[in-house]
Amino acid sequence: MRLDIVTIFPEYFAALDISLIGKARRTGLLDVHVHDLRDWTHDRHRTVDDTPYGGGPGMVMKPDPWGEALDAIAPPAAPPAQDQPPSGTEPSGPSASDDRPEPPSEPVPPSPDGPAPPTSGPPEMSTSSDLQSPGLSARSVARTPGASASSAAVPRLVIPTPSGRPFTQALAAEYAAEPWLLFACGRYEGIDSRVAEEARTRMPVDEVSLGDFVLAGGEVAVLVMVEAVGRLLPGVLGNADSIADDSFAPGAMESLLEGPVYTKPPVWRERPVPDVLLSGHHGAIARWRRDEALRRTARHRPELLARLAPETLDERDRDVLRAAGFPVDGERMAD
Ligand code: ADE
Repeated sequence: MRLDIVTIFPEYFAALDISLIGKARRTGLLDVHVHDLRDWTHDRHRTVDDTPYGGGPGMVMKPDPWGEALDAIAPPAAPPAQDQPPSGTEPSGPSASDDRPEPPSEPVPPSPDGPAPPTSGPPEMSTSSDLQSPGLSARSVARTPGASASSAAVPRLVIPTPSGRPFTQALAAEYAAEPWLLFACGRYEGIDSRVAEEARTRMPVDEVSLGDFVLAGGEVAVLVMVEAVGRLLPGVLGNADSIADDSFAPGAMESLLEGPVYTKPPVWRERPVPDVLLSGHHGAIARWRRDEALRRTARHRPELLARLAPETLDERDRDVLRAAGFPVDGERMAD
């Protein structure tokens, strides 16, 4: 999977050299390219922000450097040749997420020095020295195994913002199936809205929130998303089975929090590990884990229980939930 990250703080992404994600990069499962947005500015101060129209506090990120950055990383498709009239059946408006334009046949090579002229990109910033060569061929992405050419020709642009749609495990799984993601880290009051609007005419764009709180910028949000997505890529986790037991994992855990976990010693500071976990009885252990997941979800995230389909609950589930104070006989629980 190819990841491009545009930011005014490339240093944040040194963390992507560490642990699971660092290893995934070194083994070639993840191809991460970090770009400094200021390389697409043209003034002495390398300005990326300006005052908001309509007044108000704070600053807004200017559209020009963002437009140039996105053009350089994901070059717009060349206009149709003169002797080939455009097809009347092609949509002229924004493309849908599975209707992505074809890339130009040759990518624009990054410029090695100085501010980028309008048609070329900046030098690539990498957070490690073992990345592949910087020039990205959109066609090489299109050849990524498992990716159809049309779905890989442009990246999916992800813009972290507190006003976006929620980032969930399901969205992380969707992203993990993409061959190419492009993250745009906003700062200040955000990025001029026309950037996302214009990008949407040629690539899928998601504005995504990590939760109901406000960060100082998108960098930490992107680190979170890259880790959540990266660990789902085949070959990244040592034991792929563990993904299925995660909180929110598609399937039985989709709307449940994972329960408590234990390791050796069997007694620590007079606290024993629950007997069932030492019993070797796999059925009983699975049942205990589900009970604990139901109890913990009822305690910490009762609103999630409303998403459980009643037909997926057995008698024991219902007893556990009733004991935790949740009705189980309605259409949806916790209604
Ligand atoms: N940027 C600032 N706050 C954010 C949030 N909650 N989620 C994603 N990006 C953000």
